[in-house]
This record gives sequence, C-alpha cells and structure tokens, in this order.
Amino acid sequence: MTTGAYPQIRMRRNRRDHWNRRLVRENIVTVDDFIWPIFVAEGEGKKEEIDAMPGQFRWSPDRIAEAAREAADLGIPAVAIFPEIEKAKKDPDGSEALNPHNIVVQAIKAVKAEAPDIGIVCDAALDPFTSHGQDGLVREGYVVNDETIDVLCAQSVLQADAGCDVISPSDMMDGRVGAIRKALDEAGHDHVRILSYAAKYASAYYMPFRDAIGSSTFLGQGDKKTYQMDPANTDEALREVALDIQEGADMVMVKPGLPYLDVIRRVKDTFQMPTVAYNVSGEYSMLKAAGERGWLDYDRAMMEALISFKRAGADAILTYSALEAARLIQSGYEG
Ligand code: PBG
Repeated sequence: MTTGAYPQIRMRRNRRDHWNRRLVRENIVTVDDFIWPIFVAEGEGKKEEIDAMPGQFRWSPDRIAEAAREAADLGIPAVAIFPEIEKAKKDPDGSEALNPHNIVVQAIKAVKAEAPDIGIVCDAALDPFTSHGQDGLVREGYVVNDETIDVLCAQSVLQADAGCDVISPSDMMDGRVGAIRKALDEAGHDHVRILSYAAKYASAYYMPFRDAIGSSTFLGQGDKKTYQMDPANTDEALREVALDIQEGADMVMVKPGLPYLDVIRRVKDTFQMPTVAYNVSGEYSMLKAAGERGWLDYDRAMMEALISFKRAGADAILTYSALEAARLIQSGYEG
C-alpha cells in the first residue's frame, strides 16, 4: 500500500548517512546534564561495593572525595551525597541527622576541600537516620508533617553550614520548601539552592537505594504512601510542582524517571522550570542485571534511557550511570 506522497517523500534519506543523522538529531546528552549520587558510610579507608547496585560504592568520609574528584575530572557538574548510617546511631527521631559531626557533614567538607569546583547536593529527609526508615517523625503511627519540617530545616542549615550548595528535600512533607528557604535565608545561606523532589512517587524502584543506605530492613513492610505520591496521578504532580515553585524551589525534580517520562514532559511544558529527572536505583540495577546476564547491551540501553530524559524535557539527570556515560560520551559514543 502506498500513500499519495510516496515515493517523493522518503523519511529514510535523512537517516542514510552518519553526517546527516548528526545534522537532524534533535536531542543530545552531555556531561553537563549529570548529577552523580554517591554514598558515604561510617569507617575509614573504605570503598565497599553495594550488592544491589553493581559498580556503585559506599565510601568512608576519608575516601569519598576520590569519587567526587573523579566526577569533577570528567566534567560532571555535581554529586549528590547519601549516607548509610550505622544501626547504633539510628533512633526514632533520626537525631543523628542533626549531629554537626555526622558523616554527611564530614563528606561535604571532604568533597569541598578536594574538589571545590563540583556542586554538592544533599537530601533533606530523615530516612537514613530513623530506626523505622520513614522520612519523618512518627507519632501514633503517622508521619507528622509540621514537626518533621522543623527537623528538616535544622538539617538543611547544618548541611549548608558544612558547605552543601543545594538542599534537596526528598521527604514530601507539605510546606517544607518554603520553610527550608526561610531557615536557610535566616542562617545567611541565601545563595544555597533548593532542588525539590517536587513530584516524588511511592515507588517500587527505590529498593536498591534502600539497600545502599541500609533503611530497607528498618522500613520492613512499611511503605511511604501517606506522603509519597500515587503512581496513578499526574494532575496532582502539577499541583505539587506549582506549590514548590511558589515556595521558592530553584529547580524541580520528578522521581522516579523512566516510568514517569510523561510527568517530566507535563512539568516542563507547564512551568518551564529547570527540571531534573531522577533515574533511580531500580532503573540502574535493572539494566545492570540484564547487562551482566548478557540479555542487554548495558551501555547502549543506558544511553538510550538517558536520551529519553532529554526528549521528555529534562534539563538534568541524577543518574548512577553518570561516570560511565561521561566516559562513553568522551570517547565519541553516539549510539
Ligand atoms: C530518601 C530518598 C530515597 C531516594 C532518594 N532519597 C528513597 C525513598 O524515598 O525511600 C531514592 C533514590 C533511588 O532509588 O535511587 N527520601
């Protein structure tokens, strides 16, 4: 069967040669797009591979700067630091989050000293620190909003004091962006940015991360559905993003990434804000596992996933593949 335009219009002409494909390419992933999440754990001289995330490591504070230095040398603009807190230091209120000498603070200082040119992003959330693995304070079985926010504000200021450039509230409490903005400003940190996890879903794709920070065994059968979003909703995501922008977010994030490309597109089209996608742990580990079995070509599948974020409208991507992708791009990879 032929259409009227055929064969005058042949879509394949522009695909015939490499130079032509390059000319008509609409999207590009560059090293400038990446934020690399890295993990800090208690101890000394430690670089320990994370079981559920092959190729990702937990670094002790005295070594984590090596990771940041490597990223900086590849031209990656920023790292996001996540802690694995030892069991003995976890309690129901996550009080270790406010210890001015905790491993997040130590890591921030070490990275700043060793790689001053790379941006540092840190979560505002309590789940690495709480004995129950929830992101906030639990009162009568419910994660309470306003009381949690007071702690998140103190946590944010502590991290900013240590040299953190970007506070990233990942807790999904209502009103936390505005409160954190105010707390940062009052502490003299008006230049510290807020990247809000604006549309964060109650997702099954965070499981390897919870293994990495050691919160899964504590969370047990618990879930985060009373604060993280229902995967069925997108109008609600726009309301969440609108509120965070109104409260002063500098950048907004959609999380997870691949199963939520439609949300990224709607957010970008609606708000024209710097929009960040979180290519989360489960998305990374799926490709890694399939790659290890020879079921997928990991590099190609990973790069295809990254370009999908750009196509969906993301300006930047938190991805565990940042180093691998940066190296591929530098070696001239084009897919
Ligand atoms: C903590 C937090 C989570 C992730 C980032 N910050 C897990 C969660 O909400 O349970 C997930 C990141 C990933 O899966 O890569 N609030």
